[in-house]
Amino acid sequence: MSENDIIQHDVIIIGGGLAGLRAAVEACDCSADVALVSKVYPLRSHSVAAQGGINAALGNSPEAKDDTWEKHAFDTIKGSVYLADQDAVEVLCREAPKIVLELEHWGTVFSRDEEGRIAQRPFGGAGVPRTCYAADRTGHNLLNTLFEQANSRGITFYNEYFVTSLVVDEKRCHGCIALDIHSGELNGFVSQSLILATGGYGMIYDHSTNSLINTGDGMALALNAGAQMKDMEFVQFHPTTLYGSNILISEGARGEGAYLVNAEGERFMDRYAPKAMELAPRDIVARSIMREIAAGRGFDGGYVHLDLRHLGADKINERLPGIRQIAMDFANLDPVEVPIPVQPGQHYSMGGIDVGLDGETGINGLYAAGECACISVHGANRLGGNSLLDTLVFGKRAGAKASNGKNGADISVVKNIILRENNRIQDLLNSKGEDFAPLMRDMKKTMFDRYGIFRDENSMNHGLQGINRLKQRFKQVAVKGSGKSFNQALVRILELGYMLDIAETVALSAIKRKESRGSHFRTDYPDRSDDKYLKHTIIKAGTGQERSLAYSPVKLGQYPVKEGND
Ligand code: FUM
Repeated sequence: MSENDIIQHDVIIIGGGLAGLRAAVEACDCSADVALVSKVYPLRSHSVAAQGGINAALGNSPEAKDDTWEKHAFDTIKGSVYLADQDAVEVLCREAPKIVLELEHWGTVFSRDEEGRIAQRPFGGAGVPRTCYAADRTGHNLLNTLFEQANSRGITFYNEYFVTSLVVDEKRCHGCIALDIHSGELNGFVSQSLILATGGYGMIYDHSTNSLINTGDGMALALNAGAQMKDMEFVQFHPTTLYGSNILISEGARGEGAYLVNAEGERFMDRYAPKAMELAPRDIVARSIMREIAAGRGFDGGYVHLDLRHLGADKINERLPGIRQIAMDFANLDPVEVPIPVQPGQHYSMGGIDVGLDGETGINGLYAAGECACISVHGANRLGGNSLLDTLVFGKRAGAKASNGKNGADISVVKNIILRENNRIQDLLNSKGEDFAPLMRDMKKTMFDRYGIFRDENSMNHGLQGINRLKQRFKQVAVKGSGKSFNQALVRILELGYMLDIAETVALSAIKRKESRGSHFRTDYPDRSDDKYLKHTIIKAGTGQERSLAYSPVKLGQYPVKEGND
């Protein structure tokens, strides 16, 4: 190892999606020397796949003239089934109009209404049309805008670097170790502050809308470095994913007026949410679809129809061109003429690294923002359109806070950990154990079958035993192919290690929450219990990989806790 293997910056951000880029831009504007480390080229980050939009109380739509941030906060807190921290939700909703206009001024091509203002569409769980959008490619537009902003500021990018470990001692983060996927060499990164912005972990599940890259890396890195995880049992299932491939079919479609129909031709949502219908919160719509299928009113194979035909070709082409293209390319059908077959699929993680309002983790110099973090603004169920907003509002805040960091990072600590990581990777390359792919398949199936839309104690306990067995087998896993450059098998195995850690935290948290709330629905405890469970689940990394579980209070405020959430 030479001095060249050590790279130093004031602020290092891991993850090139919206939260990471927004944090990078802000830290740079606060005069820090900023670098962004990403395992893929930043424009391939999963934010690019976000379709439907971003919420802000702009009040542009005629039905939303008197919209306010307080109403947005009310909807968000109610949608969260009162588990969101109200101080964090206030920040999210208060900042929303400013953050959307900032992106507009930086060049995001938002769709427009007839007066030329940013158009807003209805989304689930929102009282009024509040979701700003760029057709159904909102994430794509925002990501390109921010990538331009980051490049124009001269931020340094380390693309296709995979982080294998954080360097933390005595609750102080000195930086991280990352594998340069191209060269196969490890590099040490030393920084005063480090922000994790690595997104979600959808790949631990079968049937997910997430990209292959969503493997929970940042969450596992933080957990294993001693940070706390919060509310990991809350996993969102999007009601409408394309049957078979589970590609997202945006809620924007229902926002524009599409409806759900069962195999008997019934618009069945009036059975479950007669007021909100298809725009009830996602957890309710996803369960309703599953109940229709279980009652024998789904189509063979397990799906229902999303019917857009009455919207007409012009509206579909203007507002939902991406959905039309996806249906044509991946299901060989044109939604102008036939309904789209849809089924629920894993979509988002409400839980994540336990952080404060500025992304602080409890480890000095270590911050987190975006889906990998839990502030918490989404509680037990996130409203559509609030996740892009979360990435930008809290990415920006984390960037500002991190730019002030003076952590006394120690290069020698980083050098020592490079040696340890080198040995670990060499052992993996030399191992003659089993292939990783069957373990990955078992994990995904276990998570979908046992920690899915409906859960119960017996099934979840079996699931946890299964995860523990997979963790044991993982110790013997071998990389088939010992080449250094672009050794994708090695990267997949390192990701699988992260995913198993995260799967375990989801399982442990879900088993212990003996109630139903939002996305966590237990058939053995079908009711919500505010008396016992209006609290956050906390998982701490313990010695010898033993995780310990605790609870922390929800921060309540001006929005009183009420029953029901349709
Ligand atoms: O349905 C969608 O377009 C997804 C939006 C979101 O998850 O916020």
